Order: sequence, then C-alpha cells, then structure tokens
Amino acid sequence: MKRARTGILGLGAYVPERVMRNSEWAAWVDTTDEWIHSRTGISTRRIADPAQSTVDLAEAAARRALEDAGLGVDAIDEIIVATDTPEVFLPDTASYLQTRLGAREVPAFDMAGSGCAGFVFGLDIARSRAAVGNRCVLLVGVELLTRIMDWSDRATCVLFGDAAGAAVIGPGEPLAEVLACTAGTDGSRSAILCLETGGTRRPVTEEAVSRREHQNIVMNGREVFKEAVNRMSAASRQVLEDAGVAVGELALVVPHQANLRIIKAVQKNLGVGDETMFVNVQHYGNTGSASVPLALWEARAQGRIRSGDLVLLTAFGAGFHWAAALLRF
Ligand code: ACO
Repeated sequence: MKRARTGILGLGAYVPERVMRNSEWAAWVDTTDEWIHSRTGISTRRIADPAQSTVDLAEAAARRALEDAGLGVDAIDEIIVATDTPEVFLPDTASYLQTRLGAREVPAFDMAGSGCAGFVFGLDIARSRAAVGNRCVLLVGVELLTRIMDWSDRATCVLFGDAAGAAVIGPGEPLAEVLACTAGTDGSRSAILCLETGGTRRPVTEEAVSRREHQNIVMNGREVFKEAVNRMSAASRQVLEDAGVAVGELALVVPHQANLRIIKAVQKNLGVGDETMFVNVQHYGNTGSASVPLALWEARAQGRIRSGDLVLLTAFGAGFHWAAALLRF
C-alpha cells in the first residue's frame, strides 16, 4: 500500500491582547527600557488576561491551525502539547485541550518541562507518529510564562511573554514537507536553567511559598546564552547535512526568539544575511515553546515564505534540550 505524504498541513498562533512595554517594568523592578532593549532586543511582550489560562491560548492557536489545514476537529488522531506552564499540575494540558476542542477520545499527552525547544522537539515526534500510523497530529506549543515567574526578579521577568502556536501534521497535500529533524538533550547541565520547587525533590510548602521559591526560575544567563548559540547552530548544521541542503539554499531561518543577541550570534555562525533571519522577539519577548510556531506563523502571514522555500527551524531551552527541523513549503 502506498503511504500518503505527511507534512505540516496547517499553522496557527494566538497572542493575548494586552501589550506590556519595557517602561512598565520600571514600576516593578529596578530596570529601564534601554537596559532591556540593548541586552535582549525586546520592546514589548503580551500578557494573558487574568481570566485566561493555558488551555484558552492553546485552543485559540489550535483552532486556527485546523482552519488553515481545512480540517474539522474530528480529523485529529492525536494531540501533543509542549508546555512548561500547564493548565494544572495533574492531569496534563493535552487532556483539557482534547475536551475543550471537542476532539474524539484520541491519545493526548504533554511534553512537560520541554523548555523552549518543546515545539520543534515535538515536531520530530509528531511527524513520526503521523507517518507510522497515517495519523493527523495536532501539536501545540503554549506558555503563560508571565504567570509562573517572579515579577520582582529583574534578571528573568523582563525576558518572557505569553503566547501559543500550533501545527497540524498528517497525511495529505502538505503546506510544508518536513525534510529532516534533529533533537538532543544534555541533562547534566539542567541546574543552569530550572524551577526546582513544586516537584518531589522540593515540594511546595508554606515556607517555600513565603520565600517565592515556587516562582524562582534559576538561570545563569551567560551560560544559557552560550549553550543556546552553540546548540542551535550545531542542530541547524546537522539538519542541513542530513537533508543534503546547503545553507545558501535557505529562504528563511526561524530561530527560537529568546534574545536578539542570541539570534544574531546564530546568524553569524550560519553565515546568512539579515533577510534570511526571521525576528519578532521585539514584539513578544521569549514565549518558550510557543516562540517558533508563532514566528513561523507570522513569517508566513507577512509573506516571507513562498511555495518551494526551504525554511529552517531551530530551538534551545531548559533541559537542556535542543532541536532543529528543515521544511520545504
Ligand atoms: N535591568 C537592569 N539591570 C539588570 C537587569 C534588568 N532587567 N537584569 C540584570 N541586570 C543587571 C545584573 O544584575 C548585572 O548587574 P551587576 O553587573 O551589577 O551584577 C548587570 O545587569 C549585567 O548582567 P549580565 O548578566 O552580565 O547581563 P547580560 O549582558 O549577560 O544579559 C541576559 C543578561 C539578557 C539574561 C543574557 O545573559 C541572556 O539573554 N541570556 C540568555 C537567557 C535566556 O534567554 N533565557 C531564557 C530561557 S532559555 C532560552 O530561551 C534560550
């Protein structure tokens, strides 16, 4: 039996309405617009309404991706949600999303704690699941990072924003073929970027909460910076090599939007021009696992991607996890 082609059938994204400017942070912490902008490239980020939770953002992005694919919710055979900011601790956000969408009783699971690499990492899994079982997989990257961080820690709070991105991966005439994927993990360095309180190692206690430990994202910014540049560059080279594609053939690189300086360093390592690098970190900050699908969706909406284009995705985050994928639209 001839297997149908599988690939990305549709894309969607959602950002909350509320725009928060750098200058607003000065009311909370000792910082300035100049510091944030010069160190990160970020000018604004979106903040979810207090009435919104993870599944609201995920649903909005998922419905747009289904619409883009021209598919109804009954077409979904599997749901994967990559998030570090779940709806609740147990069960996973994918269960809530399955019910909210009114999807069939299909397998649904989270890639919890997958960091900012979650979506691209999940794309590798989704395309295998789609190819093996002829399944239509809904993949969502969603974060309400502003909900879990410590708003008094200036070294981390100014970096993040809330958003969701989604893709439908399955058999059919693809919007984009997935030519190659790579992913990796180095758990030995997890202490450089982690949130320890809340699990079994450090359960949440009244005392821990009074010390704000449940929001204490530990981050060695400089180490994360170096790792992010090295891993995203290496993963990019890997997928290009695996697919037999030269860097000069790329129409667009869509990197994880953590920090403009990280993006520029990856750009330099790859040796591509400004026109080949997609950047929207200035508008949304670091939206974790939502960052790459949001950027890809926006790049397409802006007409930066045409049929036949080769587009490279690359991401890095807590774990450490990293991943890259090469797409042909
Ligand atoms: N406003 C003003 N000053 C600040 C702020 C702030 N918001 N945050 C930190 N500072 C201060 C520090 O306290 C420090 O002061 P000191 O010299 O008196 O100690 C000074 O600014 C310089 O701090 P550095 O850490 O040297 O600044 P750096 O240039 O390294 O930039 C940053 C920090 C932006 C965090 C950078 O290291 C970075 O982007 N790293 C990557 C981190 C990241 O992206 N994490 C996201 C999750 S992982 C991922 O998505 C890849």
